Amino acid sequence: MKEIKSNDYSIWMGNNSLSKLEVSSYSKIAILLDENIKRDCLDKLPKIENSLIIEIPSGEENKNISTCIIIWEKLTQNQFDRNSLLINLGGGVIGDIGGFCASTYKRGIDFIQIPTTLLAMVDASVGGKVGLDFKDLKNQIGVFNNPKSVMINPEFLQTLPENELKSGFAEVVKYALIADKDLWNKINSVPFENLVLEEIIATSVEIKNNIVLSDPLEKDERKKLNFGHTYGHAIESYYLEKGTPILHGEAVFIGMILEVELSSISEEIKQEIKNFILSNFSLPFTPKKSDILSNLANDKKNKEGKINFSLLNKLGDGSIDHLFSIDEL
Ligand SMILES: NC(=O)c1ccc[n+]([C@@H]2O[C@H](COP(=O)([O-])OP(=O)(O)OC[C@H]3O[C@@H](n4cnc5c(N)ncnc54)[C@H](O)[C@@H]3O)[C@@H](O)[C@H]2O)c1
Repeated sequence: MKEIKSNDYSIWMGNNSLSKLEVSSYSKIAILLDENIKRDCLDKLPKIENSLIIEIPSGEENKNISTCIIIWEKLTQNQFDRNSLLINLGGGVIGDIGGFCASTYKRGIDFIQIPTTLLAMVDASVGGKVGLDFKDLKNQIGVFNNPKSVMINPEFLQTLPENELKSGFAEVVKYALIADKDLWNKINSVPFENLVLEEIIATSVEIKNNIVLSDPLEKDERKKLNFGHTYGHAIESYYLEKGTPILHGEAVFIGMILEVELSSISEEIKQEIKNFILSNFSLPFTPKKSDILSNLANDKKNKEGKINFSLLNKLGDGSIDHLFSIDEL
């Protein structure tokens, strides 16, 4: 088992990481999950006597205030006090909404993240951002608040549908491109199916953790993590508004292809990155520029009326604050 230290909590990584689950000091314990996690993952969690299971319906469309009310009601009805613990067992949706509900219930109770998707293992469970969607705006409401600990057991991935696994891999590709050329060479040299995910998850978590430690509140360095996400979010929102949602990672893959084009790197490297993505992952159609303009114009990072991109300086090196007007895109 590997321990990765963040500022005030540990990320435990490995097939026996759940042995680090220490709950004896808490007065009450709840486990938040959805119907898929209950079916496929709950029995892999050590038994916790008298714990309360809070089940919410799966899906991004439930990462909203109505679901928070259900969670807060369950905690209240069962007399959870301030010395209680919420265990978030699931993907990024469970971790985000569970982390937010725990952070706000009675001004904050402890929570532990046990991610079960690749995306949540390498990204959502690390870094202390928790929150929910509001009026069709993703992650509009939220706080920065760290969990008590994160436990990553790659065995959970055995039941994850393949499209979800590949979608989560978009964030791994992003880390390689913005911060780690060796990771890029590793993922580029072996077919996706043959990659040893446990190693790759650990490297990815270390990259994200180091970036977050250097800039917890996203003033500069942390913005590098937005590579692929400016176009990505605009495309994800376009498909969502159309009523045919695509996976976050699929949108980020398209976003990275488009943002590689904006980066000042050689044509050869641009081609290498695009070939890697397009040969390993089947992606939805890229919308026309005119269809995503209003989404780009609403991006949270925009400055002086321009779209603010995080791009690449070179392979393994991201850079921030590249401003483009709509006409320049
Ligand atoms: N807080 C952050 O820093 C951060 C970072 C990135 C993404 N996010 C958020 O993460 C969310 C997306 O997370 P996600 O991609 O994990 O999606 P998700 O949480 O919706 O999970 C995807 C689907 O897989 C199912 N599932 C999860 N684990 C499973 C398993 N082991 N076996 C079988 N089925 C399983 C879930 O029930 C769900 O249907 C978004 O809301 C996004 O905004 C947050």
